Amino acid sequence: MPLTRDQFPPQFRWGSATSSYQIEGAAHEDGKGLSIWDTFTRQPGTVKNADHGDVACDHYHRWESDLDLMQDLGLDSYRFSVSWPRVLPWGTGKVNAKGLAFYDRLVDGLLARDMTPFVTLYHWDLPQALQDRGGWVNRDTAFRFAEYAEVLARQLGDRVGHWITHNEPFCTAIMGHQEGVHAPGIRDTHAALQTLHHVYLSHGLAVPVLREQSRTDTQVGITLSLHPVYPASDAPEDLQAAHRHDGFRNRWYLDPLFGQGYPQDTWESYGPLVPHVQPEDLGIIAAPLDFLGVNYYFRETVKHAPGQGHFDLEEVHVQGVKRTHFDWEVYPEGLTDLLTRVYEDYQPARLLITENGSTFDDSALDEKLMDHDRQQFFEAHLRECLKVLERGIPLEGYFAWSLLDNFEWAEGYDKRFGMVHVDFETQERRLKYSGRWFRDFLRVPVP
Ligand code: NOJ
Repeated sequence: MPLTRDQFPPQFRWGSATSSYQIEGAAHEDGKGLSIWDTFTRQPGTVKNADHGDVACDHYHRWESDLDLMQDLGLDSYRFSVSWPRVLPWGTGKVNAKGLAFYDRLVDGLLARDMTPFVTLYHWDLPQALQDRGGWVNRDTAFRFAEYAEVLARQLGDRVGHWITHNEPFCTAIMGHQEGVHAPGIRDTHAALQTLHHVYLSHGLAVPVLREQSRTDTQVGITLSLHPVYPASDAPEDLQAAHRHDGFRNRWYLDPLFGQGYPQDTWESYGPLVPHVQPEDLGIIAAPLDFLGVNYYFRETVKHAPGQGHFDLEEVHVQGVKRTHFDWEVYPEGLTDLLTRVYEDYQPARLLITENGSTFDDSALDEKLMDHDRQQFFEAHLRECLKVLERGIPLEGYFAWSLLDNFEWAEGYDKRFGMVHVDFETQERRLKYSGRWFRDFLRVPVP
């Protein structure tokens, strides 16, 4: 059966997602302070081809035509993030009026085009000035984040009704502080867990601030990267390994937000590396959410492997399956499994897919940019969204990652996720086939 927009509820939201460091550029303009990504990308060997986000998609200067592009695609919502050091160059204290004005223009530009802004406060570009004071390992950063939230809500809260405090805290903590592959490049598991705890504290402190300072109908949420975990076999030891990995990947992030504290089994596996938690923290972290944002890219399959890591397991590279340019398994069914499980176990008031998309090697595409793989990826995942809706799960929207090809963190510009191709020499934007397909899909008149 063909997939059509009218199979979805009429109020279902259709958006694209981006983030500040990945698209804005203008890294040193209009009083912006340095972020940890400005610093990290300058360290040799951190990013492929020594790429950095100084110019990126030059969105800071091209935002109007980028919003026109979204409107032409028929999108009704846009998820973007604010660069904290553009607004507060020192992370705290004096506000940079010019930086804040950029987001004012962006929000007004969206509203003028009938698009709803979804504003992420933190998509990984911490002010370097705060990193110099210990960054997320320092508890104080959580309180600075709440101040930053207040600055944004006071300025934009009359027009922004959807806030996302953090994007993928797993990556902030684990990739930035345990694996060291993202800024600030620290390799220390305890620091990673302490980071996550402070990120969560900052989230809990910011939720009431955003609600109080914004429109009365404001919705506040957070975006997690979640991965359904499957055992490599039905053997009891693999089933138990999958449960342990789920603790590391998913429950560690979900449980505290939904008032359950950190999962006991995972806490015990970490032993002396666990974070320091003050008595009031877990209550603050569990501030009720209006929605949970889920970023879904791939599943993970694991088997029991004594002595491997903190959890005695190993990931299995499933053979004979389609993979993206990142080598991630294409597994659309995982989206249904994941959202069903999240809804059953945690009952979030609403769910949004705040990111879903794929990178394929576009280098061989001809003039017509026929990226069939990316189009098929979108279509297969949207079909899963229908299954999720059929189950009565309150899924309210889908944000494609990403509008534009952009700076893919440690992979630089090598990995392209856009529905729109960007020529990074000329900044020319051209719709790929996946984008044209999306536009045609969205054009079906809504009843
Ligand atoms: C999730 C992150 O939020 C985003 O920044 C990144 O580009 C995509 N995943 C693709 O890796």
